Amino acid sequence: MNAKKVGILTAGGDSPGLNAAIRGFGKSAIGHYKMDLVGFRDGITGLVEDHYEPLDSRALSGILTVGGTILGTSRDKVHKFPTPDGVVDMVPRVVENYERAGLDALIMLGGGGTAKNAKRLVDAGLNVIHLPKTIDNDIAMTDTTFGFATATEIATEAIDRVHSTAHSHHRIILTEIMGHRAGWLTLGAGIAGGADIILIPEIPYTVDSVAATISERTKRGSTFSVVAVAEGARDVADTADYEAARLLVRAAKTPEAQRAARAHLKNVEDLQREHTFKLARELEAATGLEARVTILGYVQRGGSPSAADRLLATRLGAAAAELVADGHFGVMVAAHGELAEPVALDEVAGKVKLVPADHAWIRAARMVGTGLGD
Ligand code: F6P
Repeated sequence: MNAKKVGILTAGGDSPGLNAAIRGFGKSAIGHYKMDLVGFRDGITGLVEDHYEPLDSRALSGILTVGGTILGTSRDKVHKFPTPDGVVDMVPRVVENYERAGLDALIMLGGGGTAKNAKRLVDAGLNVIHLPKTIDNDIAMTDTTFGFATATEIATEAIDRVHSTAHSHHRIILTEIMGHRAGWLTLGAGIAGGADIILIPEIPYTVDSVAATISERTKRGSTFSVVAVAEGARDVADTADYEAARLLVRAAKTPEAQRAARAHLKNVEDLQREHTFKLARELEAATGLEARVTILGYVQRGGSPSAADRLLATRLGAAAAELVADGHFGVMVAAHGELAEPVALDEVAGKVKLVPADHAWIRAARMVGTGLGD
């Protein structure tokens, strides 16, 4: 029987652990199951443009510790692919390329957007397995995602480091942390870094509450405060405007209404993009302390993956190879405790895992006196 031929790609934002996952899958598929492996360049774009190259053991050597992705990535949507002639549904093209390449399966490493792309290709009849990657940890049905542990380490170290300038200058230091629409990364790093206040999208804040926490600290003799602010965090008023704009998009029935609603949502997002700087100014006015802002940005996605992410990426990658060998497709390989288990993509695609109000991390933060802005 001919060896199974498998394609692999990375899509969405880069993250530490992608190469570890490519290696985990590849070494299992090639070494253990004697499969043939090809890597598609730049995510969905490589599938559409039929741009791939063989991946052998040599190509997988030495990549466990390398940040980013050796394959490149993109954020393209397979059913709304940008071309010079406008947006095109490229699912038929991808099916054609998959078949011409003689693939038996396709492994897609990515976040929530990739889960949706994977589901679309499954619905078109392809044998697809998704591996959960993102520093945001916002993918449903899995305990965690590779990239999250490393980004938490990076953001925690940053919070540790800004404590120096905070206590030296008696300042409020606001550190903005990634996470898209979820607060996991900010909450985890905020707790680990001992932030005095942690602001996440799931808990709209009031400036009065944040200022009151800082004033309480001042009364107790603390001359500084460190605030971990999620990039998606908003005050109560901005949250209402943002949710109303998102509701308009969901309610829009016609293409024209969709376009107008999306334009309005983008305008609201643009207006609110500088929310951490706005909060800094408001806190200076409310407390009389100097405030400074540090935006961590892409530093959180850079560099070598932590040991935890290397272990997770290897486990999930190896489990994916076993599923290919067993002919089990249409799933995401989820981390469930020490297990790596298949979960139907129907249960993952289109869902976002946000921080529940009663989550253990929330309770722990409140117990140690961290202000959450509410
Ligand atoms: O999903 C990972 C992430 O880093 C988010 O935390 C962030 O909002 C987004 O990607 C940034 O997207 P881009 O890399 O396209 O600027």
